[in-house]
Amino acid sequence: MPGLATIIAEIAAEMAEAPHRGMVADYIPALATVDPRKFGIAVVEADGTCHMAGDADEAFSIQSISKVFSLTLALGSIGDKVWERVGREPSGTAFNSIVQLETEAGIPRNPFINAGAIVIADMILGNHAPREAIGEILRFVRSLAGEDGIFVDGAVAAAEQETGFRNIALANYMRAFGNIRHQVELTLGVYFNQCALAMSCRQLALAGRYLMAGGINPATGHSVISPRRARRINALMMTCGHYDGSGEFAFRVGLPGKSGVGGGILAIAPGRASIAVWSPGLNARGNSQLGALALERLVHRTGWSVF
Ligand code: DON
Repeated sequence: MPGLATIIAEIAAEMAEAPHRGMVADYIPALATVDPRKFGIAVVEADGTCHMAGDADEAFSIQSISKVFSLTLALGSIGDKVWERVGREPSGTAFNSIVQLETEAGIPRNPFINAGAIVIADMILGNHAPREAIGEILRFVRSLAGEDGIFVDGAVAAAEQETGFRNIALANYMRAFGNIRHQVELTLGVYFNQCALAMSCRQLALAGRYLMAGGINPATGHSVISPRRARRINALMMTCGHYDGSGEFAFRVGLPGKSGVGGGILAIAPGRASIAVWSPGLNARGNSQLGALALERLVHRTGWSVF
């Protein structure tokens, strides 16, 4: 097998030539204007070696990938009580779907669909002001990556707020069932800002290291979360991380992965690597078209599938 640096460089070169790049998200200008030719990949191995290719140092909007970090924070602060208000089953529906909430008592299927992530944001809000909760998420992600150059993009957060009618509907609907405990504006303030986190592939792969390493941040040796919870977050990423495209992603890639509508994917090869890819064009299910293809090729060439 060629070395990892060679494999990644080859994949980046192949992606540069790819004819079908998907459609860039167009619901807010900050995403609609991103160049669809962008492609970045960063792989951090268990020994800390980081390989990068393409636009791996360019910040992009991580969007729903933030749901992995917010779930980790919520589990760390209230533990298994999280599961009293959010399920652990794949939804088989779109990321922003409302339909199951009516017959399932306002309990979202899992923490990675929008409804589930909004409930998690409500948990993180706890007794804080939204600004403090957002600060907590930002500090947490910075500490995971070991870098301060990660920020909340204010223009993205404001645009999320202005266009977030479905999220506002989801939050109100769940509040009617008692599953949102704060004023919806406060909870959504946390959610919209976490979605607006901007990071590069390199920073994202660094932030994901604890999930490859049994809950330990390998750079510091500190426990981020218990090994059992790290395994369970990976299980949820595998089964729910790509919404109604999760089966397809598991079939093709075979790694826990979480996508975002900004075109990023965080994928974990347990014990081996934390991987971030970014290509802004999305497939019909709102997941990065070339991101999944690049991961499929990486896993094929490294044998990193968990299966
Ligand atoms: O809440 C939303 O709809 C967006 N801010 C995030 C959705 C997202 O990233 C879906 N993933 N592909």
